[in-house]
Amino acid sequence: MKKITIAVDGFSSCGKSTMSKELAKRVGYVYVDTGAMYRGVTLYCLRNGLISDDKVDEQRLGEQIDEISITFGIDENGAQYLMLNGENVEKEIRGMEVSGKVSIVAAVPLVREAMVELQRKMGDDKGIVMDGRDIGTTVFPDAELKIFVTASPQIRAQRRLDEMRSKGNFDVTFEDILFNVEERDRIDQTRAVSPLRKADDALVLDNSEMTIDEQNEWLMAEFKKRTEL
Ligand code: DC
Repeated sequence: MKKITIAVDGFSSCGKSTMSKELAKRVGYVYVDTGAMYRGVTLYCLRNGLISDDKVDEQRLGEQIDEISITFGIDENGAQYLMLNGENVEKEIRGMEVSGKVSIVAAVPLVREAMVELQRKMGDDKGIVMDGRDIGTTVFPDAELKIFVTASPQIRAQRRLDEMRSKGNFDVTFEDILFNVEERDRIDQTRAVSPLRKADDALVLDNSEMTIDEQNEWLMAEFKKRTEL
């Protein structure tokens, strides 16, 4: 069967990673969560005092960017986790501190350049499902299958709250998360470099009213259309 590149873009917390992971598992492709990569760089910036007053010290970050290693590991249950300079930081990158700063770090051109280069290398051999914001527009403009996922901000905030609660995090409210979701939408869509935008040839999937199973079936059908000749 021919191997293809699958780009899944869309707003935050709309189930992109859940559906991308499931598709990759079903068809034996590599899955890459590019949001985790930007989160990893954000954690590096926070730990090294490179962010103050919602501004990134781009000069110092530029001097240190080559020292930041972003890789993925796989745990005993087959789940992927992010490593920052060899350390498993999966839990930390999902917290509110990183979530609150990641949009400003992801808007820094030198960060995007470094991450896009890394992402293209990961996709060299195709057979990849990559999710993010600019995969279909910038990273892999020639991807054979492009999906743009969307859902209402309220539904996305509720999903993120449920996810955090299920991981034992009870110190945030629905309102905090809704604010964070809407703020990130705004920054992601209006930033100068690679703003979140649907590629002209991407299929739109609004999953506000869909179950996870329904999404998976829909995506699988689109995958088959492009790989079974
Ligand atoms: O998907 P996520 O919520 O983990 O993404 C975290 C942040 O990273 C989000 O604010 C958008 C940004 N991002 C990006 O700019 N480009 C990508 N390809 C992926 C994520």
